[in-house]
Amino acid sequence: MTPERSHLPFGDQRDAPFYGHDIVSVRQFTVADLDYTFEVAHEMQAMVARVGAFDLLKGKILANLFYEPSTRTSSSFTAAMERLGGSVIPINEVKYSSVSKGESLPDTVRSLERYADVIVLRHPEVGASALAAQYASKPIINAGDGVGEHPTQALLDLFTIREELGVVDGLTVTMVGDLKYGRTVHSLSRLLSLFDISLNLVSPDILQMPAEILGELEASKTPTTVLGTLGGVIGDTDVLYVTRVQKERFSDEASYEAVKGAFVITPETLSAAKERMIVMHPLPRVTEIAMEVDDDPRAAYFRQMEYGMYVRMALLAMVLGKA
Ligand code: NCD
Repeated sequence: MTPERSHLPFGDQRDAPFYGHDIVSVRQFTVADLDYTFEVAHEMQAMVARVGAFDLLKGKILANLFYEPSTRTSSSFTAAMERLGGSVIPINEVKYSSVSKGESLPDTVRSLERYADVIVLRHPEVGASALAAQYASKPIINAGDGVGEHPTQALLDLFTIREELGVVDGLTVTMVGDLKYGRTVHSLSRLLSLFDISLNLVSPDILQMPAEILGELEASKTPTTVLGTLGGVIGDTDVLYVTRVQKERFSDEASYEAVKGAFVITPETLSAAKERMIVMHPLPRVTEIAMEVDDDPRAAYFRQMEYGMYVRMALLAMVLGKA
């Protein structure tokens, strides 16, 4: 997008990193950008603890445009915007909007940006956010584009790892489940390849990490092991990142049924894991983590959601020139 710099309200920080930028892929982030984002997220966390909500984005409006179901991503962007004093236009049920009349995505975003200052977009097609960003002059934030990327989730995942374990370099990260269709693991692998980590990719054969991402991991010299079982690597794992088998991406029910229960994390699974490690999941969970795991202090998935709100507050403040 091209920010309309002449229309900046007084007080915007025009030189702030990410001011006026779209957030479409994690590939836009350097390690320095990540440090900056997480520093801002820390400030947000401290402010929320102190005052709950404050007026940094007062007068700003977010259009939350969701063409696919969402609980966490949509409500955490809403919470983030409201805690910063801004407001939200929620568009969750596109079937009740003009999209159902056949409106194109470029038209929808060019209309919404006449009312809003930033657009958060979730869409079933890979590249939808990039397309929207091409047409919109206000920032577009990708909240998931089909099986493509989910950059804000990967940023909050990385923030969670840093907060919970103190470091990223030197860790062994094991991703398990649907690595083919799970967009969160696509973005997170790309982001982790900026660090000195080892990656284990555990999935049924038909749900392996796409070749494109395996190629990128190789190019970045990230030690990566592709496996069909968890047993041999659970003991070395610092971060166990569990994903849901993405039922909605399967073309036939039978293939889904064949793999849906492939991996289930139970207290027994964790009995072989380190005492200091974490279990993450972008949620929603279906059956891949037994509920008995929830009380284990290593289960970080609900804490992960809260970190997400601080990261999204940081990103909103950054793209709107207030961080
Ligand atoms: C994920 C998503 O939508 O990709 N959920 C989320 O945003 N927290 C993961 C999923 O749906 O399995």
